[in-house]
Amino acid sequence: INTLLICGGGGSEHQVSLRTADFIEDQLAKADDIALKRVEMDSSGCLTDKQGRVYHIFYDRKIRDENDNAWDVDYVIPAIHGYPGETGDLQSQLEMFGIPYFGSAPEASKTCFNKIKTKMWLSALGIDNTPYLFLHSLEEKELEKAHAALEKWEAIFVKASNQGSSVGCFKVTRKEELAAAIEKAFTLSPYVLIEKALVARELEVAVYTFEEELIATLPGEVRAPSDTFYTYKEKYAAASRAETFIEAEGLNEEQLAWIHEVSVRAFKALKLKDLSRIDFFLTEQGELYLNEVNTFPGMTPKSMFPKMMENHGHNFAEYLTGLIRTAVP
Ligand code: ADP
Ligand code: DAL
Ligand code: MG
Repeated sequence: INTLLICGGGGSEHQVSLRTADFIEDQLAKADDIALKRVEMDSSGCLTDKQGRVYHIFYDRKIRDENDNAWDVDYVIPAIHGYPGETGDLQSQLEMFGIPYFGSAPEASKTCFNKIKTKMWLSALGIDNTPYLFLHSLEEKELEKAHAALEKWEAIFVKASNQGSSVGCFKVTRKEELAAAIEKAFTLSPYVLIEKALVARELEVAVYTFEEELIATLPGEVRAPSDTFYTYKEKYAAASRAETFIEAEGLNEEQLAWIHEVSVRAFKALKLKDLSRIDFFLTEQGELYLNEVNTFPGMTPKSMFPKMMENHGHNFAEYLTGLIRTAVP
């Protein structure tokens, strides 16, 4: 089965995506029936393999190199966090050319990668999420809304609407810092989300389909150092001080049941496919909120998704090869 692993992409998570692709490549190395070709996409959409050959993509379900040598594509793994993978744009092309792929369809991807759209959906579905408002511009009226929110909540998160890995995500407690954070977020996305900053534990659930059964694992936990939050550095740097726990301790039956029910309901209602990591906050008062839905979770050495899956008793290599063999019989 000719399987094209596309990584990189034009977004701020390009480097993270390369590490996710390393993991996937490694996992598929032993599958004799899967011929994997890895290509890296640059910010102009150009695809290059490890030998530096450049490819054009997809017409008649093939990719072609500069010398017009064609390679059939049976299945695609769009291992790109952010644009144009997790945003669904690449998947739209794959749909157009009828090529099966790993992960969610364009619409679900687009909804979940946009933090504001996700929150609108969650609210419509009756799923508790962090109190928020959003800004559409830097107009004075919009900035006033943000100032009022900071006054009311005392600490807020300012987030670019379409980013991941904590890029464009700022905690603001002082009104002098607010405008700069909002301006920065607007350089990265068309809308800006303002959220009440919670004092909360951060829980993550791997939600995926294994042999057509929908699985939601027990929640894991990430614990950022107390002087910061779960920033890009704490997520990926060798010097990260964040701690991860494959199973979060001390949750009661009711909390576990709520998280499980909401994870499954969100996956189904948002029409996700194959995989996701759904993240929650648990406050000191015991309130639970869904934070976000990641349709293509990180699979770096520090990332939780594959570990939680393994802990649930499912091997990632078996899971992915199973999906590929079913999609390309
Ligand atoms: P990303 O998609 O970039 O991961 P998140 O919404 O998950 O964006 O925010 C990144 C991190 O910022 C979270 O993991 C958490 O540490 C912190 N954070 C985000 N929103 C809040 C909030 N409302 N209250 C407390 N911490 C938050
Ligand atoms: N966006 C990163 C890769 C994650 O959520 O894991
Ligand atoms: Mg997150």
